[in-house]
Amino acid sequence: MTLPDTEREQKLWLAERAREVLESVPVKAGDEVVDFGCGAGTYAIPAAELVGESGIVHAIDCDADRMEDVTKARIDCLRAILGDGTTEIPLADGSCDVGLLYDVLQKLDDRASVIAEMHRVIRPGGVLSVYPMHLDADEITREVTGEGFRLRDDYAGLVLHFVRE
Ligand SMILES: C[S@@+](CC[C@H](N)C(=O)[O-])C[C@H]1O[C@@H](n2cnc3c(N)ncnc32)[C@H](O)[C@@H]1O
Repeated sequence: MTLPDTEREQKLWLAERAREVLESVPVKAGDEVVDFGCGAGTYAIPAAELVGESGIVHAIDCDADRMEDVTKARIDCLRAILGDGTTEIPLADGSCDVGLLYDVLQKLDDRASVIAEMHRVIRPGGVLSVYPMHLDADEITREVTGEGFRLRDDYAGLVLHFVRE
């Protein structure tokens, strides 16, 4: 795969391949997925198409305007959750197969707490997928593995996939 040069171009390149990225996680039929910092649903909406009616995608964002497309998507298995600006995830322990942290960690003062929340809500053997936009991938890998995840592989060198131990 030949990547575009700039970070901005890479973000757009990735967004155009959202479904392929999610299939690499993999997000699959029947899965329960949480997308923290979902924004306009670039990944949450195709994730909902992949999990289908037997699955669910919890799309969390603290900005109601930014997540309007998610709120209005009218997809039964896509649940929009307006966050309170903290890093808490209002889901039960071990309830999710997959967690997504795409282009959001750089927005958070306390990255460790959202990674710990992902560790709490993802079941053992589930996957945390991280797109560390604007951040050093090695540093993020150290932080995520320090919270009880194992680095598995990546998508195009841009998105890191971790297994929840
Ligand atoms: C750059 S956007 C990325 C959106 C989406 N993940 C994507 O890749 O297209 C970052 C999003 O994170 C959200 N965000 C930042 N801090 C948050 C927090 N504490 N809780 C929930 N969402 C947050 C912002 O509102 C914004 O929509």
